[in-house]
Amino acid sequence: MSAIRGSILLADDEEKILKRLGRALRDEGHEVVEATSGREAQKQLGEKSFDLLVVDNLMPGMTGLELIREMGQTMPPAERPQVLMMTAHATVESAIEAMKLGALDYLQKPFEVEELLALVGRALEHQRLRSERQYLISERNAEFNHYGIVGRSRAMQEVIQRAELVAQTKSTVLITGETGTGKEMIARAIHHRSAQRDMPLIKVNCAAIPETLLESELFGHVRGAFTGATMTKRGKFALADGGSIFLDEIGTLTTAIQAKLLRVLQEREFEPLGAERTQKVDVRVIAATNRDLKQMVADGTFQEDLYYRLNVIPIEIPPLRERRDDITVLIEHFVEKHRQRTGKRIDRVEDDVVLALQRYDWPGNVRELENTIERAVVLATGPVLSPASISLLGASSTPPPGLPSLRLHQNLEWVERETIRRALEQSGGVKKDAAEQMGISQRALSYYLAKYRID
Ligand SMILES: Nc1ncnc2c1ncn2[C@@H]1O[C@H](COP(=O)(O)OP(=O)(O)OP(=O)(O)O)[C@@H](O)[C@H]1O
Ligand SMILES: [Mg+2]
Repeated sequence: MSAIRGSILLADDEEKILKRLGRALRDEGHEVVEATSGREAQKQLGEKSFDLLVVDNLMPGMTGLELIREMGQTMPPAERPQVLMMTAHATVESAIEAMKLGALDYLQKPFEVEELLALVGRALEHQRLRSERQYLISERNAEFNHYGIVGRSRAMQEVIQRAELVAQTKSTVLITGETGTGKEMIARAIHHRSAQRDMPLIKVNCAAIPETLLESELFGHVRGAFTGATMTKRGKFALADGGSIFLDEIGTLTTAIQAKLLRVLQEREFEPLGAERTQKVDVRVIAATNRDLKQMVADGTFQEDLYYRLNVIPIEIPPLRERRDDITVLIEHFVEKHRQRTGKRIDRVEDDVVLALQRYDWPGNVRELENTIERAVVLATGPVLSPASISLLGASSTPPPGLPSLRLHQNLEWVERETIRRALEQSGGVKKDAAEQMGISQRALSYYLAKYRID
């Protein structure tokens, strides 16, 4: 019945059950190792990797529950097998406990062998999906790590994924986000992951160039085009030909320049100031802004057509305070970066520092966090960063009450929650169908619904 074969560790102190179930599983093509006690199972887990642990709860010495708990503490999530718990009627409580510790489902004794086989098939399916997902996540993280993009929040994972997808195309990208959220960093990553990576990436900071010079800066000019134009000058668009142009602070453009830009986006051509001939360009446009362009369109300060031409692929980077899960990894990343740069010995960051930084609101976002860490590293007088070595320059905001503690497995939890949400959506809210679709029992579904507070 089950198409997937797996390696299964089967633990029960009743030899008869062990033999019977072991045989049934082997008949299905699974590789089975039998253990007659919790301790023996524990030893096997240390020696070999399994896709699935089917474990009885009540065993002398070490119970199934204790074994699962131990596994949770000693094995990294990626290495843990799926778990199915077998339990006698009287101990359903412990099965619930087991699921809290990460077991996928449980079987209430006595059960039919078919029931076990069906659950095993589903558990192996889960395990396969999990390892695929982990592989993809680690691959992707490794790639984007080259560009120093750090983030494990769901929001950042989505930003990275989108950036990676859009890198494969030549579509126009509009990156939005508050100051210091990493817009430029994402823009660079997109260019460097694109097929045009060997061609230039030209940056124009629209806010930093005086209005009178910006047009010539973007499109170039010919000699004599205006007073002081003593030589012909190529513009940034011409320089970026074949590559990408990064238009930073796009929200500051004047109406006149907006119109010219719209034309380049529509026609892929422009005229340098004072020139008679039109010039063609083949360039990918990546624009960024910390302003609300949509609002500017509504206010009449940003041209609507241009907005739509720019907003082909929007990438929105949320402020750091809305993705606090990223703070710890960013702290680690910046401590390491500035430790290396300064050659200082920093062994450890005190928990209180991390807690305080997690609670802070970060109006200057990642840039402010980096500056804070850099300062702390530079000014540190010993190998431990303590609260005394941290100063928050912009500290004016109050920490939100009841800040959720850091959840290491946020990613997997999110996947779980999403899977359930989608299954329920597809089954029109019928729990029985949703459970079936996900390959878990209705009991298990009820547990997850309670866990994630889904109605
Ligand atoms: N996810 C991240 N991982 C590592 N470093 C980051 C991340 N996001 C931002 N940074 C760092 O924070 C600093 C600010 O990033 P960046 O210049 O890209 O922000 P920005 O959104 O363009 O800001 P502004 O709107 O002020 O121009 C940079 O030094 C960048 O390296
Ligand atoms: Mg920037």
